[in-house]
Amino acid sequence: MLIIKAQDYNDMSRKAARFIAAQVQLKPNSVLGLATGSTPLGTYRELIRFHRQEELSFCDVRTVNLDEYYGLPSTHPQSYCHYMQEHLFNHIDITPGNTHIPDGLADDPNAYGREYDDLIVCMGGIDVQLLGIGSKGHIAFNEPSQVFSTQTRLVDLNETTIEDNARFFESEEEVPRQAISMGMKSIMAAKRILILASGNGKAEAVKAMVEGPVDPMVPASILQLHPDVILIADATALSLLAQ
Ligand code: GLP
Repeated sequence: MLIIKAQDYNDMSRKAARFIAAQVQLKPNSVLGLATGSTPLGTYRELIRFHRQEELSFCDVRTVNLDEYYGLPSTHPQSYCHYMQEHLFNHIDITPGNTHIPDGLADDPNAYGREYDDLIVCMGGIDVQLLGIGSKGHIAFNEPSQVFSTQTRLVDLNETTIEDNARFFESEEEVPRQAISMGMKSIMAAKRILILASGNGKAEAVKAMVEGPVDPMVPASILQLHPDVILIADATALSLLAQ
């Protein structure tokens, strides 16, 4: 795992956006795996700036998102579909039909998950997968568990994730208890993985991901088995690493 130290959140975001922009310039029809949450917001802001000021075009780019709350319609202000429109897609020249986000209202979410994994294979796989990390080391909505879950599927969110994400909702009760999440197989099949971490609250998860054993109780630790992972993190998120 290549670790790139950023000065702060903005520096992390600029470095991540430069990386993605270079990928799109080199391969205009790249398949980008996209993430949500607070962490990638600055990266998306920078990509929008590159589009506006540096003529970076996304018209041939294809995207697949990691996850979506189960039970929320795409129009719900806290759906990840709404998030992606608001924070990226509405501000760049991406072709709407080229963007894919799990359907939070799928009737049979596990069958839907299998179709989603097949879709990623049909697209030729993910060129660069952008990831954040949860405070307990989850990636997408793959929560700590006894085994690594491979397929895209319906998952139950754990208490910590519900508490962490309550800040986006009026109250904790409104946070959906389930989500459709890309599984480890599609994530690990990405040609490159770019994982971002910022702030004190991620320091323990980052340490466990980088230095701990590969353990499904720290889902991000599986990234140790991937040949091309870049972690861009600020000093506080890296503060517990041995060196
Ligand atoms: C959610 C998302 C993850 C994200 C994580 C951390 O659980 N499903 O993809 O990485 O939150 O979010 P944040 O970046 O807001 O700390």
